[in-house]
Amino acid sequence: MTAMRRALLLVVLCLWGLSACRREAGGFSAQPADRLTPVARRETPSPETFPAKPTPVYPTPKFPTCQPDPAPALDLSVYSYRPIRPISSREGGATSLRQLAELRRFYVGVSTAPHFLDNREYAGLLAAQFNMLAAENAMKWEVVHPEPVRYDFSQGDALVAFARANGMAVYGHALAWDLQQPGWLTGGEYSREEWIQILCRHIKTVVGHYRGHIYAWDVVNEAFQNNGALRNTLWLRKIGPEYIAMAFQWAREADPQALLIYNEFFAEGLNQKSQAVYSLVQGMLRQGIPVDGVGLQMHVWLWGPPTRQELTANMRRLAELGLVVHITEMDVRTQYAKDSPAEELAVQAEIYRQAFSACLEAPNCNVFVAWGLTDRYSWIPEYTGQPDTPLLFDRQGKPKPAFNALLDLLSRSP
Ligand code: G3I
Repeated sequence: MTAMRRALLLVVLCLWGLSACRREAGGFSAQPADRLTPVARRETPSPETFPAKPTPVYPTPKFPTCQPDPAPALDLSVYSYRPIRPISSREGGATSLRQLAELRRFYVGVSTAPHFLDNREYAGLLAAQFNMLAAENAMKWEVVHPEPVRYDFSQGDALVAFARANGMAVYGHALAWDLQQPGWLTGGEYSREEWIQILCRHIKTVVGHYRGHIYAWDVVNEAFQNNGALRNTLWLRKIGPEYIAMAFQWAREADPQALLIYNEFFAEGLNQKSQAVYSLVQGMLRQGIPVDGVGLQMHVWLWGPPTRQELTANMRRLAELGLVVHITEMDVRTQYAKDSPAEELAVQAEIYRQAFSACLEAPNCNVFVAWGLTDRYSWIPEYTGQPDTPLLFDRQGKPKPAFNALLDLLSRSP
C-alpha cells in the first residue's frame, strides 16, 4: 500500500471509530481476523451504562516526574509463536469459552508464565479457551528490574508475543507492590527524593516498554491490611501514602491507553478493606488522579466466599464512581474440605458461577481472570505445602465443573 493510500485509510478509520483508528495506527492489523482484537484497549463497558467519572473537586497534586531509564526496546520479532488454531473441544463444550466471551466483548483469562508456553497441550488449551493472559510473575520487579540499572524484559516480552500471535489481551501485573522485590531495592539506602525517582523511573520504563500492548496494569497491588489501614510497605515507609497516587500518575504518563487498576485481595465483598479501597479510589478521582478501576482478586476458599449480594453491591458502588471492576486472580481452595471430592468440586463450581455471573451482570465488569490455567500450575500447593485443586481445569487439563459453570453461563446469557 502506498503511503498516500495508507494515510487515506487511516483518516477513514479515524472517522469511522477511534478505537479502529488507534488499532490501525498502532499496526495491529496482523491480529487474526476472526478474533476479538484485544488491543482495542478502551473497549471497557460503555460509559452510557454506568456514570462517567466525576469532575475532580480538589486540585490535582503536582508530583515530581522523571524520564524512563535506558532499557531494551520491545522486539517481538525474536519470538516465533504462531497462532494456535482454535479448537472446538468436546471437553470444553461445542463452543469454547473464548468464543462465547468474544461474542459479548468480554475477556476471560488466566495467569501464566512463559516457560509453560512451549508445552503444546498447555498452549493449545490456553489459546483455545481464553482471550486474555495475565503475567503471573513475569512483569514483577524482581524479574524485570533485578539490578538498579538493568532491566530484563525477556519473560514479559514472551508473554506479549504469545498473546499477540493468538489475538489475546495482556494484563500487566504489578508495578508498585511489596513482594518479589530485588535485594537492591529492599536493602537500599536512599533519600525520599531518590525513592520517588526510583519508583517513577521503574514505572515509566516498564509501562513505556509495553506501551500499546497491555490492556490493563495493576499499578498498585495490595496496599491495605485487612483492617483497612495502609500496609507497611517499602513504598509507604520510604515515600509516604502519596506513593499510590504518584504511581497512577506516572503510569498514565507512560501509557495513556492502558487501564490503570488498583488490585486487592479480600476486598471483594463489603468489609473494612473494601471500604478502604473504595475511599482510596474515590479520593483519587476527586483529585483527578488517573485511576480507571479496581481489581478484585478473588482468592477464596470453599467456605466463606463473599456473598453474591456483597460482591454485586461492591461492584455497583464502584460503577457509580465511573470505575471498571475486574475479577483479576480467582481461585477457590479446596484443601481441608471435609466433603467428598465430587461435592467439593460442585461447591467450587457454584462459587465460580456466582462470581462470574456477578461480573457478567455488572455494567462495569468485562474481565474475569483465574490465577493459573490448571490445578497443576496453581501457586497454592507450593505456598501452603498441601495439595489443592483451586482452578478451572484439573491436573490433566480436563475441564472441571467450575469451567463448565462458566461455559454454561456464557452460553445462556445474551
Ligand atoms: O524466582 C524463583 C525461581 O528462580 C525458581 O526457579 C523457582 C523455583 O520454585 O522459585 C522462584 O520464585 C518463585 C516465584 O513464585 C516464581 O515461580 C517464588 O519462590 C514464589 O514465592 C513465587 O510465588 C508467587 C507469589 O505471588 C509470590 O508472592 C506465585 O507464583 C504467584 O502466583 C503469586 O501471585 C500473587 C499475586 O502476584 C498478587 N496477589 C496474590 C497472588 C498469590 O499470592
